[in-house]
Amino acid sequence: MSTVIKGGTIVTADLSFDADVLVEGGRIVEIGQNLKGDEVLDASGCYVMPGGIDPHTHLEMPFMGTYSADDFDSGTRAALAGGTTMVVDFALPSPGQGLLDALQMWDNKSTRAHCDYSFHMAVTWWSEQVFNEMKEVVDRGITTFKHFMAYKGALMVNDDELFASFQRCAELGAIPLVHAENGDVVAELSAKLLAAGNNGPEAHAYSRPPQVEGEATNRAIMIADMAGVPLYVVHVSCEESHEAIRRARQAGKRVWGEPLIQHLTLDDSEYANPDWDHAARRVMSPPFRNKAHQDSLWAGLAAGSLSCVATDHCAFTTDQKRYGVGDFTKIPNGTGGLEDRLPMLWTQGVATGRLTPQEFVAVTSTNIAKILNIYPRKGAILVGADADIVVLDPNREKVISAKTQQSAIDYNVFEGMTVKGLPRFVLSRGKVSVTEGALSSEEGHGQFVARPPAGPVSKALSSWKELTAPRKVERSGIPASGV
Ligand code: URP
Ligand code: ZN
Ligand code: ZN
Ligand code: ZN
Repeated sequence: MSTVIKGGTIVTADLSFDADVLVEGGRIVEIGQNLKGDEVLDASGCYVMPGGIDPHTHLEMPFMGTYSADDFDSGTRAALAGGTTMVVDFALPSPGQGLLDALQMWDNKSTRAHCDYSFHMAVTWWSEQVFNEMKEVVDRGITTFKHFMAYKGALMVNDDELFASFQRCAELGAIPLVHAENGDVVAELSAKLLAAGNNGPEAHAYSRPPQVEGEATNRAIMIADMAGVPLYVVHVSCEESHEAIRRARQAGKRVWGEPLIQHLTLDDSEYANPDWDHAARRVMSPPFRNKAHQDSLWAGLAAGSLSCVATDHCAFTTDQKRYGVGDFTKIPNGTGGLEDRLPMLWTQGVATGRLTPQEFVAVTSTNIAKILNIYPRKGAILVGADADIVVLDPNREKVISAKTQQSAIDYNVFEGMTVKGLPRFVLSRGKVSVTEGALSSEEGHGQFVARPPAGPVSKALSSWKELTAPRKVERSGIPASGV
């Protein structure tokens, strides 16, 4: 059974052209004119692009005394409905738990996935066991390790642990990721705010000013440089963090920054809303920022100093958010966005002229596929690539509403916003999973994507670090030691 996508304009990260795409056995088998297939999908007036890859999700994750509400079923349905065909979720060992133990938990949950997926592994504590198990995790195709510099007393790791883990990543050809916020300062500021009676959701934002993010980002960059490893900074929300990344890249350091669709399109005025639920539903770390920070993030995407747009999809219901009534530090941190990332970025990025269609493809799939060393199997419209494809109709529009979303939660942070640029079709490894808003995906269709270590950037950097490493000076006549 073959499927032909007919009459569309193919858009990749580097070019656009009119051609049909023939899909068979889950892969792209031909690109050309007047192709024929058993099933025909009419793409006239549409852009045929690689399906989105969301490199940052938290599905059914134990966090802050509860579990995030979307699992691999509802989460990957939401992904597909919005044109995303692969998610990378975080396997999160609780401190003291082995990495392989956590991986087993994530393997069990992910059997429900409707689209392909991979995992990052979190390093939430440090020991010989963690050091040893990192190798086995890499052997199983998980080549990225996330470190939290915030969430003191829970997931946070200190600089010595960060340095040890980054060095281990360098040895294994893996890439460290960081949640960059200074957790010590956040803890102090939070206690001070609460003591002054500042206990509402807006105080969450006051406790995490841009400086805590800028400082931690710069620290992580310098530690990674000393460890000789590339670095990927998740959820970059502000100019201070972006500035550190920009400066590092300009100096030849191998650093990537990931803004979220939420930070690009929603601002800190949300926390001033008089409705407690409205503000609490938008509590996430880092918090939403003002328009100047948003402009910085958009500029970074256009300039190439920021590389990938993600969601950090970590959805909690209103009831779960209410755990924090009277104490903002107990509001589960996280927002949703899986279904809305592509339509929101197209509407506010491409349709406004902030991004080209090619840049849109780069930041929604191709760049992360390269970073994760799975390009061109993913993130490409090429013969031989997996047929993970979104056929985007630039004229199809809707008003975002929780009533029609796939996510299991009872609200949507983008509620009431109009998006223009929606999938006409979405294919997951060749399976037509969405047709004009109607889902035909299948639970369990999604497969784990193993990723090889030592991608081109890791290899180049390790060669350079080896070449420029400090070396002992060999001397012939060494004087006798003094008394
Ligand atoms: O608030 C957030 N971002 N929640 C999800 C966990 C994390 O920090 O990425
Ligand atoms: Zn984080
Ligand atoms: Zn996250
Ligand atoms: Zn289902």
